[in-house]
Amino acid sequence: CGIVGYTGERGTVDVLLEGLSRLEYRGYDSAGVSVIDGDHIALRKKGGKLAVLRASLEDAPLPASATGIGHTRWATHGGPTDENAHPHVGDDGRLSLIHNGIIENFAELRAELEAAGEAFASETDTEAAAKLLGRAYRETGDLTAAMRQVVGRLHGQFTLLAMHAEQPGVVVGASHNSPLLVGYGEGEHFLGSDVSAFVKFTPNAAALDNDQIVTITRDSASVTDFDGNAVEPKRFEVSWDASAAEKGGWNSFMAKEISEGPEAVENTMRGRLADSHVELDLGALDDEALRSIDRIVIVACGTANYSGLVGKYAIETWARVPVEVDLAHEFRYRDPVLDERTLVISISQSGETMDTKMAVQHAKAQGARTLSICNTQGATIPRESEAVLYTHAGPEVAVASTKAFLAQVIGQLLFGLHLARVRGTMADEAIAEVVAEMRELPAELRQVLAEQEAVHELAHWMADSRSVLFLGRHVGYPVALEGALKLKEISYIHAEGFAGGELKHGPIALIEPGQVVFVVVPSPRNEPLLHSKIVSNIQEIRARGARVIVVAEAGDAAVLPYADVVLRVPLTLPMLEPVLQVVPLHIFALELATAKGLDVDQPRNLAKSVTVE
Ligand code: G6P
Repeated sequence: CGIVGYTGERGTVDVLLEGLSRLEYRGYDSAGVSVIDGDHIALRKKGGKLAVLRASLEDAPLPASATGIGHTRWATHGGPTDENAHPHVGDDGRLSLIHNGIIENFAELRAELEAAGEAFASETDTEAAAKLLGRAYRETGDLTAAMRQVVGRLHGQFTLLAMHAEQPGVVVGASHNSPLLVGYGEGEHFLGSDVSAFVKFTPNAAALDNDQIVTITRDSASVTDFDGNAVEPKRFEVSWDASAAEKGGWNSFMAKEISEGPEAVENTMRGRLADSHVELDLGALDDEALRSIDRIVIVACGTANYSGLVGKYAIETWARVPVEVDLAHEFRYRDPVLDERTLVISISQSGETMDTKMAVQHAKAQGARTLSICNTQGATIPRESEAVLYTHAGPEVAVASTKAFLAQVIGQLLFGLHLARVRGTMADEAIAEVVAEMRELPAELRQVLAEQEAVHELAHWMADSRSVLFLGRHVGYPVALEGALKLKEISYIHAEGFAGGELKHGPIALIEPGQVVFVVVPSPRNEPLLHSKIVSNIQEIRARGARVIVVAEAGDAAVLPYADVVLRVPLTLPMLEPVLQVVPLHIFALELATAKGLDVDQPRNLAKSVTVE
C-alpha cells in the first residue's frame, strides 16, 4: 500500500492525489483521502483505481483544508470495497487513520473493542487501530501521545498516519518494520511511504528508523522513538528528477521506461567506471572485507531475481567466488548455511519488497555480510544493509520492471569487476576490455530501440496466442525467464522460460505445430560451442512444427535457415548480452498487451512493490 500525509498551504487534496498517483504502483485496488474540516473529518474512499476516487472528488470536492492523509491499497484483510478502503475513522468521526502493513493481532483487538462498544464498518485490520487510537486520544488529549500508547499494542508490521480534528495542522506517523519518510518544505511538511510521494514538491527528505514516531506541522517535523526520546533523523536530498515520474507524451509508463533504458544504464555506470577499471565505494564492505568472503548468495524476487541469475554468471567467471541465486522467500525459510564469510546481495528496485527484506534480516542475524543493490534512495532494504550500490534507473512506475532490470544487471557487472580487481582474479587488460564494451552499451541500446518494427508486427499477429515459450542458455537463460515473466505479468498469456539444455528433459513435449518459441541465441563469435548447441535446439523444435523467433547477434547467419523471425541485437561481450537481448522481449510483451487492449502499467492482481510476505 502507499501512504501520504500533508500539512501546509497548498491545496491539500491535490497534494494527496499527486502523491497517490506516484504511489499507485504499490497497490491500486482502492484509494481514499481525508482532510480536517472544522470539528470533524471529511473523507472520501473508493474501491477501484485512483481514477475512480479522482472522479468522485471532481464531482463533489472535499473542503479546503491545511491537513490531510491519503492511501492507495493492495488488499490483504478484506476485499477491495469502498468500506475496506482507507482512511478509517475513530473517536466518533473526529480522527482518521491509514495503514500500510499487517496488524497480526487485529482479531483480538477487534473483539476487545467491540466488547467495549465500538462499532466496525469494515473487515480490515486497520480499523481496529483507528478505534484504538481514538480511545487513546480521549485519554491523553494529544495525538502523538495517543500514538505512542497504541503502537505498543499492535503486533505485526505497520506504518500508520493519523490526524484528529481537535488538532488541525498536525499529522502523526509511526513506523514499525515498514517504511516512512518525511519531506521537508518551506512552511509545509510531507509524509510518505517512499520519496515518490512528495518528490514533486521537495527533494529534502529523511527516513525514519524502525520504531519511531513523527509529528509534522507546517513549521516542524519532530521525531521520537517509541519511548518518546527525541531523535534527529539523517536528512538526504533526493536526486530524482520529478518529471521522470510523469508519462510525458508516452501511452504508458512502461513504454516510456523501456525507452529510458539507455539512460538507466548510463546513469548506473556514471562515476563508477575509472579509465580502465571499476571503482566502487562500498563503505563497510571495503577491500579487506571483500577479500575475506568465500561465497555469495544473491536474494531477490521476480525480475530482480532474474537479474541476479545474470549476475551469478558474471561474478563467478570474473571474481571466482561461488555464487548462488535464491528466491528471497525460499532462502528465508530454509535455514540456509551462512557465516561472516558469506556475502548476501539483495537486489530490489523498490527496496521495500517484504520477502527480500526478511531475507536480508535473516542473513544479518546469521552473521553474514550484506550488500543491497537498489533503485530507491532511503528505502528500507538499503538502510538495513551494510552497504548499498544504488542503481540509477530513475523512478520506475509501471508494475512490470524493465529499465530497472537493465540497471540491476549493470550494478552486478560493476560489482563483479570491482570484486575481480580487489581479489586479483582477472587481468587488468581483461577488465579494461569489459569496461570499454560497457561504455558502448547505451549507444547500442539506442540502436536496439530504434529497430523494433519487427517486434511490433510480431506482437500484433500473436495477440491471440495462448502460450509462448522462451529458450536460452548461459546468460540467455535468465533472459528467457524474464521474457516469459513479462508476458505473464502484463498480457496474461501462459509463458514459460527454459534453459535450452533442459529442452529434451521435458519441455519439448509441449511443442506442437504452431507453438511459438522465442530463442535467445548467444554470440557465435564469443560462444561458438553454446551457439551450436542452441542452433541444435532450434532444429529440434522446428522439426516438431514450432514457430521460431530468435533474438540473435547482428550478422549471425547460422540461425537464418531455421527462424521464422529474427530480432537483431548489436555485438557485445557475452556477459553484457542480456542487457541488449532483453529489450526486444520487453517490447514484445508491451506491444502484445497493448494489442489486447490491456492496462500495461497496472496489470490485474499485481503490485509493483509487495510490502507483505
Ligand atoms: C513484484 C513486482 C515485480 C518485481 C518484484 C520485485 O512482484 O510485480 O515486477 O520484479 O516485485 O520487486 P523489487 O522492488 O524488489 O525489485
